[in-house]
Amino acid sequence: MSTTLQSQQRAAVLKGLGTFLPERVVTNEELSQRLETSDEWIRSRTGIGQRHWASPGTATSDLAVEAGARALKAAGCQSVDAVVLATTTPDHPCPATAPAVAARLGLGTVPAFDVGAVCAGFVYAAATASSLIVAGVAERVLVIGAETYSTILNPEDRTTSVIFGDGAGAMVLQAGTAREAGALLGFDLGSDGSLPGLISIPAGGSRQKSDPTPPDPSDFYFTMQGKQVFAHAVNKMGDSCAALLERIGWSAQSVDRLVGHQANVRILHALADLLGVERARAFVNLDRVGNTSAASIPLALADAVEDGEIRAGDRVVMSAFGGGLAWGSTALLWPEINVITSH
Ligand code: UT7
Repeated sequence: MSTTLQSQQRAAVLKGLGTFLPERVVTNEELSQRLETSDEWIRSRTGIGQRHWASPGTATSDLAVEAGARALKAAGCQSVDAVVLATTTPDHPCPATAPAVAARLGLGTVPAFDVGAVCAGFVYAAATASSLIVAGVAERVLVIGAETYSTILNPEDRTTSVIFGDGAGAMVLQAGTAREAGALLGFDLGSDGSLPGLISIPAGGSRQKSDPTPPDPSDFYFTMQGKQVFAHAVNKMGDSCAALLERIGWSAQSVDRLVGHQANVRILHALADLLGVERARAFVNLDRVGNTSAASIPLALADAVEDGEIRAGDRVVMSAFGGGLAWGSTALLWPEINVITSH
């Protein structure tokens, strides 16, 4: 699925960005003490140096509220018309987490719902919010990506425990026109449901509960077939970015910053190579935060701005890929906005 906007057209415009990371930093060395792994393996195979994990008692909504409050403050607004929350780790299987987040942010009885597209969730949530705005249903929407992967990781699985981190990022999108800086210029979204087992939590849903065979306790944890996912991530984000760039009329060489889902630095470099974007333009912050799934794109955007790697006027392309399989890309000219982080 794809959309692009003409310059006069009503568009969703980025007005403020906020992020939150839980205080606890888990280093590669700490994980190496209880798992058969090493700082050398983790850094060389993924680029990850550390990640943040929430402390016991902290749920996804707690991180989402912190990031959402910062985004609202950054945008200088106290109200929105809707809240769209992307997460793989909702507070409960039922109800959705977004209504609780909206209530705790003092946003009243606005529509609030969750979007589940795993690591591609933030782009899907932004596309949903953008569609509400372009259709005239909403003037302003708070989009949040928040995760507590530490609650779904199998502590004995070195193939996933070293990869994922917790965190949240949020942005305020407001109605404007496609010619303004900050306007989301189009989306390319896709999925391939023929490969659901590459990234999954096998148990806990209706499929397992409808099965009389008792599940293995490890089936309640997150699993990933990393090698196969790697290849799909590069190819699907590559095709998605290329399709988006063609439709919005940007050459790969004109992209100032490629903000890809922070899963693996080797994926980010392979994606840049495939597109013909210089590797130095592929932003990397997974060394600091690991793979934060639906929170990955806003956390990367905020760090890129704070590092001076994204400046007003830059052409920024975002692309994400994850379980489903699901992927998506969007692009904007970076606006003059406030960014408020917790770190
Ligand atoms: O966020 C959603 C999207 N996710 C992604 O895009 C993730 C994509 N996949 C990846 O980033 C990589 O596949 C991983 C980082 C997950 C794994 O890297 P890899 O280079 O594909 O490693 P591998 O799975 O092929 O494993 C290579 C070796 C294996 O040992 P043998 O069979 O060669 O003896 C693994 O058992 O590395 C071993 N291994 C580890 N060794 C030390 C796997 N995990 C670890 C570990 N520490 N943590």
